[in-house]
Amino acid sequence: MTDKIILPEHVGIIMDGNGRWAKKRGLPRNSGHKKGAEVFENVSRYCRDIGIKYLTVYAFSTENWKRPKDEVEGIMNLMRGYLKNMANAKNEHIAVRFIGDRTPFDKDLLELMEEAENADVGEITTTVQIALNYGGRDEIVHSVREIAKKIASGEISPEDIDEETIAGNLYSKVPECDLIIRPSGEERLSNFLLWESAYSEFVFMDVLWPDFTKADFDFALEEYSKRNRRFGGV
Ligand code: IPE
Ligand code: IPE
Ligand code: MG
Repeated sequence: MTDKIILPEHVGIIMDGNGRWAKKRGLPRNSGHKKGAEVFENVSRYCRDIGIKYLTVYAFSTENWKRPKDEVEGIMNLMRGYLKNMANAKNEHIAVRFIGDRTPFDKDLLELMEEAENADVGEITTTVQIALNYGGRDEIVHSVREIAKKIASGEISPEDIDEETIAGNLYSKVPECDLIIRPSGEERLSNFLLWESAYSEFVFMDVLWPDFTKADFDFALEEYSKRNRRFGGV
């Protein structure tokens, strides 16, 4: 990677293309998810090594429950395996947080998620937000509900609501997203970070997520570095 690159503070990745990767090899879809999970771990460490402060990855959307039961179970079991490994994360300097609606998850998975969030990882270099049962619309609904509760209890009044109030009650607790990368050739958001992507830069790539390398990540960072972000100004 070149030295003079301007690094984004917060990168979002839509980890897409696992199924197509597996299909190309005549393998079951879940083997694509398995390889994709390994790539996720490598990319998290790479973000830490180069100093990206926040990484949000789309692991399972509110719409992904439409998939066959065995695929959904396979994805949740991969998540369990990853989280059990987090016990060895002591000096990884990578904090893990989950964003999304946790209500449908099994108790054992919920416990693993909480353990991972509370794990001692040493001084935090990178915070990784895993979007699990996450939908951008659901996140906004969640925020509105939280605000409504505060109004009902008299903590705030409707006139107090501004953009910061909405942002402050989202699942995501990190600054809004600077760069969104979507591999796999699809060019859509699929309900990822709707609120947080208002001024994101987008890099769409043809590579399938299980084939995604550090060089692909560098390419996206270089692309981002060339963009002229204006935020409505001149
Ligand atoms: C992304 O890969 C992983 C999830 C959505 C859970 P896909 O499974 O969507 O892969 P394709 O799009 O079918 O190739
Ligand atoms: C988006 O990918 C969700 C995740 C990567 C977790 P999808 O594969 O579900 O999105 P669509 O269906 O192509 O829009
Ligand atoms: Mg897909």
